[in-house]
Amino acid sequence: MFSSIIACSVDVDGELLLSRVVSKQLGEQLKSKLVDSLQSEGPISAISVCNFDAPNISNTLGENYELEVGRTSLKTRNPANQPDAWETKQLQWFESQLKSGVDVKSLEVHEVLTENNQEVFRYMKAIPVQEPCALCHGKNIPPSVTNKIDTLYPEDQAKGYEIGELRGAFTVKIEL
Ligand code: HEC
Repeated sequence: MFSSIIACSVDVDGELLLSRVVSKQLGEQLKSKLVDSLQSEGPISAISVCNFDAPNISNTLGENYELEVGRTSLKTRNPANQPDAWETKQLQWFESQLKSGVDVKSLEVHEVLTENNQEVFRYMKAIPVQEPCALCHGKNIPPSVTNKIDTLYPEDQAKGYEIGELRGAFTVKIEL
């Protein structure tokens, strides 16, 4: 990408490694919470867990590592996760890469930008739709689950996905 020329002028190897680690931790922590609550209390409670825990886990990781980390998507469930202009551009690029057959596991991007007179390192990593996600993001969501989602997220756009599609991305921002 054109942007990588800029990124190469600053040494951001540390930021890149940290972003990968933090994204992985966010993914793993969310997954273990989700699996636990699905098994012990079922899907309706699991939605509440996502609702409360997803922002909390992101915030705690962000505080621990002194950065911003979260999840975003072109079709969000929680409007608080909406992408900014840079994130939208990367998500569109991920979509085009997926369509041309690139393995989703390798889809990540990083860039150094100046935002409000501050140099920032930004990173995103693609999140594919997997089988367990269909329960709450797929085409045949049980009505009780749909009801709960629509009550908590009246602006939900994150239903109707198929396995293998791009659900969204982890996103990290570090001040340099
Ligand atoms: C039990 C229901 C449930 C399951 C299963 C589930 N999600 Fe979600 N998902 C949610 C809820 C609820 C939110 C909103 C969380 C919030 O408020 O930040 C969400 C939000 C997201 C977001 C953040 C962007 C947005 O739309 O707001 C991503 C990315 C995401 N889910 C991916 C996945 C993936 C990938 C899987 C499968 C591994 C999955 N989800 C499984 C309920 C679920």
